[in-house]
Amino acid sequence: MQIRVVSEQPWSVSADLLAVPVLAGEPEAADAAVLAELDRRLGGAIAEYRRFGEVADTPFRRVLLRGQDLAAAWVLAAGAGAAGDFDALAAYRFAASIERRLAGTAATRLAIWLPRSFLGRPGLDAADLAMLVARGVVEGEYDPASLYRNDYHDAPPRLDELVLVAPGADVAALQAAAERGVTIGEGARIARDLANRASNDVSPEVLADAATDLARANGLSIDVIGPERAAEMGMGMFMAVGRGSDNPPRLIVLRNGRDGALDAQGRLLGLVGKGVTFDSGGISIKPADRMEEMKMDKTGACTVIAAIVTAHRLAPDLPLLALAPAVENMPGPHSTRPGDIVRALNGKTVEVQNTDAEGRLILGDALTYAERLGATHLVDVATLTGAVERAFGKQVTGAFGTPQSWFDAVAAAGARQAERYWQIPLVDEYVRDMESWYADLQNSGPADGSLVKSGLFLREFRTRPWAHLDIGGSAYLRKEMAWAPRGATGVTHATLVQLALEGVAQG
Ligand code: BES
Ligand code: ZN
Ligand code: MN
Repeated sequence: MQIRVVSEQPWSVSADLLAVPVLAGEPEAADAAVLAELDRRLGGAIAEYRRFGEVADTPFRRVLLRGQDLAAAWVLAAGAGAAGDFDALAAYRFAASIERRLAGTAATRLAIWLPRSFLGRPGLDAADLAMLVARGVVEGEYDPASLYRNDYHDAPPRLDELVLVAPGADVAALQAAAERGVTIGEGARIARDLANRASNDVSPEVLADAATDLARANGLSIDVIGPERAAEMGMGMFMAVGRGSDNPPRLIVLRNGRDGALDAQGRLLGLVGKGVTFDSGGISIKPADRMEEMKMDKTGACTVIAAIVTAHRLAPDLPLLALAPAVENMPGPHSTRPGDIVRALNGKTVEVQNTDAEGRLILGDALTYAERLGATHLVDVATLTGAVERAFGKQVTGAFGTPQSWFDAVAAAGARQAERYWQIPLVDEYVRDMESWYADLQNSGPADGSLVKSGLFLREFRTRPWAHLDIGGSAYLRKEMAWAPRGATGVTHATLVQLALEGVAQG
């Protein structure tokens, strides 16, 4: 897709469709004049529809109008809410919802007018707005319905051109930001495609092959560790989960930049993603209800694989690591049993009290290994608990971290990319609940505070600054939203890329 930022007036931009935001309340004088002229060229349609109630300022109310005295063939009057509420998340969703409204149409050239009133809120500057709108449109194109079908025609159109219309803006600065938004949006597609694929399609081996193909195509180095090497190295927790399946485990290790190099902030950021290609629960088997959703339990891995590819495309030499422990958690004659005791890579012994608390086992060893590879700062992404969805639903990612300054850095990267985190405390007193009679610790305990304990468990397997993003709720949608289809959301991909890019000299 071509992206172009122009400073002309919206009526002179040639496109299949021009999106015109309708904000609540009085627009700024400059915007009011543009809107009045647009409406004049539309024969007063927007004002008329507005009186009738058909065009409203409510977010996601969108009305299609025939373009008249304009260079664009069609106009979409799109509710954008109150200017004072228009933040980064609103910008992203506004853009994605416009693209999704075009599903089934022949539109290939989209223009979006960005009124100055979009910049009313502190913390959202013109460049970030351009980035988020571009990213929103590209991510809005995504539709998983075509993954396993040939004859699906109702997906939002793949655009040839997106024009951001910002009268009077510094076009060059916005152009660079918008291009970054497009690249991040395209990267999210990699994560979502992999995550949405079925478990009989994507085994740990297939995930490793996909990562290998991406590494070759993008010039990243890759190491894929199979069960023999993992066992020999002492990854007892990783192997405890992987051994129950006929599909053998793979620890996928991707690296960008020179060996031993640190980024401009003196960091080697290590991204670690949970790659359970199917989570049946193992011997502690899950109930049948919604078990099919456990094909999504590999989403963290898909996200870190995509994030390192995206970061490479934006900053080819940036030192960065991504680790994706990939396993299938299955019951069977070789499975780990509740009560089994294994030795983690960092030497600690762990009693596997519940084989369904498998994510923390594979992540623990991967975190230790990331540090051995030189990671100085860690972020892991995982569909780790059902509890996080019960607590926060699908719109917020629960997150942990230590020290606080590192958590804050991760959350700030998220805020810039319109991804929301809510910090969960690491309550030291609860560590006692994870004591085992026989081992250094056990992988689950009494249900109270189980979300906190999931973070406490992981904390035992790293020594460096670390943040843990639990996407158990936010990783995928069960129903369509105005801005996103069902299935994988790609959440945290943009945060990870943003965080990594902060290691590029002069940001
Ligand atoms: N993959 C699941 C968590 C999950 C469940 C994510 C539903 C998304 C939707 C994880 O491996 C798991 O089974 N967690 C258990 C932990 C418990 C056994 C301590 C859970 O959340 O019930
Ligand atoms: Zn799981
Ligand atoms: Mn599980």
